[in-house]
Amino acid sequence: MKVLLIGSGGREHALAWGLAQSPKLSKLFIAPGNAGTAQLGENVPISAENLSELAQFARTEKIDLTVVGPEAPIVAGIRDLFERENLKIIAPTQRTSFLEGSKVHAKAFMEKHGIPTARHASFESFERAVTFARTMQPPIVIKADGLAAGKGVAIAQSHAEAEQVLREFMIAKRFGAASQRVVVEEFLAGKEFSLFVASDGVSWKLLGTAQDYKRLLDGDRGPNTGGMGSISPVPWLTEQMLDETVKKIVAPTFAALRQENLSYEGVLYFGLIWTERGPYVLEYNVRFGDPETQVLVPRFDFDLLEFYLAIAERQLERFETTLKPISVVCVVIASGGYPEHYEKGFVIEALTPGPTPLRGRGEWGEGVLIFHAGTALKENKIVTSGGRVLNVVGLGVSVSEARERAYSALAQVSFQGMHYRRDIGSGI
Ligand code: AMP
Ligand code: GLY
Repeated sequence: MKVLLIGSGGREHALAWGLAQSPKLSKLFIAPGNAGTAQLGENVPISAENLSELAQFARTEKIDLTVVGPEAPIVAGIRDLFERENLKIIAPTQRTSFLEGSKVHAKAFMEKHGIPTARHASFESFERAVTFARTMQPPIVIKADGLAAGKGVAIAQSHAEAEQVLREFMIAKRFGAASQRVVVEEFLAGKEFSLFVASDGVSWKLLGTAQDYKRLLDGDRGPNTGGMGSISPVPWLTEQMLDETVKKIVAPTFAALRQENLSYEGVLYFGLIWTERGPYVLEYNVRFGDPETQVLVPRFDFDLLEFYLAIAERQLERFETTLKPISVVCVVIASGGYPEHYEKGFVIEALTPGPTPLRGRGEWGEGVLIFHAGTALKENKIVTSGGRVLNVVGLGVSVSEARERAYSALAQVSFQGMHYRRDIGSGI
């Protein structure tokens, strides 16, 4: 089968690595990909947001299945476009993508269906939002309605700060139309975790749990980032807590979708928080997470391509989504200066272009995988080309073994200005 994978981050390299192991795969294209995906298939220089060119490529190359990594093309309606052209694709429809594409709509959905989430109100008027925020006890959570590349959530510590954030979002339109409407919600205290669930529109299956490390610096300090590391499974989440989450959140979400006549095909990401009153939804995402995918895919004890085909053919119920009983730790190496300004184009000495070892052995040692994110090929060298550059992934029988493997491999990698956290998976 010929597969087209859309995206260019660490998530997509991990998915490419999973797909490349399938005996059913004959050719993998990645649009636009990175220097890591180029080792597993052919990169195609089409942006993940250029839907019409992607469809044209799928048509001319006679692609059997398209898999979508990031949210932007999903929210822009890639599934609908491909379907109109009879092209097989795994992604939820645009109608269903409000779960991630509009916080206002997603919160209304949760409220209507009694799915536990922070109490909130939505606003289009700046004055009303400020008046409402003044009635709340800080910290106050403010969310831009639309997609804002993970930067659309602010936690204000005072009423003055809340007003300033609302002004920035709604008046200065920091995220354009995406921040014209906002959600103002109560702050929930607890421990965050993510749960990934696949659905084919008929049934759904749990895929696993993960935790990401969003802050830039050790000890969860510094600014929020796209993710500086991740672990799977979530070590503190017991079987009982997972059952409760399924009962209170996952099952009601899919029941609610059905009630609204919405069919969900693809992977649904539940961003959750475990509070004193049990699990609450912080957000839904209509896709796999990054960097969570980098720790989930190595645990999949099934053929990733067969898994996607089972979704496409609505046969998920019969498909076993078994996980390996291992722990996986991912440490992100970022460019110096990220998430603010950073320079690109530094050579990553340790990496050489060439095929990636498929089984986690080889040049990086037992149980280590390196997934690229912001990397590019330049004159036969691998250079940095983004904020988050590499994902060093360790696999082990325990978190500590996985962590040790990741960090000892990481010691072999260097490029100018690189930054990483030293505490991913520690203290567990
Ligand atoms: P979201 O994009 O909605 O997941 O928000 C991003 C991050 O903001 C979450 O991972 C949490 O760390 C934080 N956050 C969002 N909503 C809340 C809330 N109601 N209470 C506390 N923290 C929150
Ligand atoms: N890890 C957060 C996200 O993928 O949105």
